[in-house]
Amino acid sequence: MRATAKAHTNIALIKYWGKRNEELILPTNSNLSITLDGFYTETTVHFKEELDRDVFILNEKEISGIPYDQVTNHLQLFRNYANRQGLFAEVRSLNKVPTAAGFASSASGFAALSGATAKALELELDEPTLSRFTRQGSGSACRSIYGGFVQWEMGKLDDGSDSYAIPIAPQDHWDLRVAAVVLTAKEKDVSSRVGMKRTVDTSVFYDGWLESLPRDLEEIKVGIAAKDFEKVGSIAEANCLKMHATTLGAIPPFTYWQDTTMSVMETVQQLRKDGTLAYFTIDAGPNVKVVYLPEDEEKVLAQLNATNGVEEVIVSKVGKGISYV
Ligand code: ADP
Ligand code: DP6
Repeated sequence: MRATAKAHTNIALIKYWGKRNEELILPTNSNLSITLDGFYTETTVHFKEELDRDVFILNEKEISGIPYDQVTNHLQLFRNYANRQGLFAEVRSLNKVPTAAGFASSASGFAALSGATAKALELELDEPTLSRFTRQGSGSACRSIYGGFVQWEMGKLDDGSDSYAIPIAPQDHWDLRVAAVVLTAKEKDVSSRVGMKRTVDTSVFYDGWLESLPRDLEEIKVGIAAKDFEKVGSIAEANCLKMHATTLGAIPPFTYWQDTTMSVMETVQQLRKDGTLAYFTIDAGPNVKVVYLPEDEEKVLAQLNATNGVEEVIVSKVGKGISYV
C-alpha cells in the first residue's frame, strides 16, 4: 500500500484571501491560478500495518508540531472515507520549492499528499473529488490537481461539495513565463492561514476587496481565452495590490512586503514604461512573481537580476497537473 505522486505549485492571478468555513476550508471568493512547472513536490505515502501513528518526513527531516498535525489530519480524511481507521502511514516528501516563504509549498505539498494517499489506498477518485479532498489540506492546493489555467469554484453549499477546482485552459493554451524573484528564503512571520483570518475578521478594507472580485475573475477569463496579455497582466497586478491592501486595514495591521519587494515592483513598472509588458503578483510573503511573454525573457531577466536585493530569479513555464511516479 504505497504510492508516489508529483504535483506542481501554482500562482494565483486572482487571489484566494479568506474563508467562509475554516474547518472545511471554503473560500469567500472564487479565484484563479496558473500551475507552474518550475516548483513541485514529490510525496510517497506508505501505509504499514506495523505503525501505531503516522510519520511525516519532509526534505529528509522528521517533522512534528503543526505541520505534522496538518498532514495526519489530512490522512485521517482519507482513512475515514476508505474505512481504514487505525492504518497509519509513513509520508516522505521532497519540496523542490522553498518551504513557507510564499512560494506555495503548501499547494504542491497537499496536492501531492492527496494524490499519493488516494492511490496508496487504491481509491479511484475522479479529479473533482481529489481536488475537494486536497482543498481540506490547504485551500490553494486544490488548484494544483490540474495543469494550465485553473479556477477554484467557491461553491455555495455548506458541506463544501461544490467547492473544487476546474480547468479553464490547458497547459499548452498559452506559453506564458513566470519569474519567481527570490528575495529571502526565510520562513515568514504571518502564515497565509493566520494572515487571511486576521484580515477577514478585522480589516476595514475587506468588503471592498470582496466586491471587486467577481468582475476581476470574469474579465481575466475573457483575457485568457483571447490571449490578451495586457488585459490579463493588468487585472492580475491590480488584484494582487488590492489583496495586500486589505492587510494594512487589519488589526493589528501587517504587510508581507519588504523594501526589496517594492524595488522589484518598481523594476516591473519601469519595464512597462520602457515598452516591455511584464506584471507582478505577490502571495503571502515578500517574494515577487513576474509574468511576461517568452520573447521578452532576456530583457525582463536582465532588469530583475540587476534589482537591489534580488538573490535569485527562477523561471517557470506553465506546468502540468498531478502525476504518479
Ligand atoms: P507557502 O507559501 O510555502 O505555501 P504556507 O505557510 O502557506 O507557506 O505553508 C507552509 C506549510 O505547508 C508548511 O509549514 C507545512 O505545514 C506545509 N507543507 C509544506 N510542504 C509540505 C509537504 N511537502 N507536504 C505536506 N505539507 C507541506
Ligand atoms: C495569498 O492556500 O496557503 O497564496 O487554505 O489556509 O492553507 P490555507 O491557505 P493557502 O492560502 C493561499 C493564499 C494566497 C493566494 C492564493 O494562492 O490564491
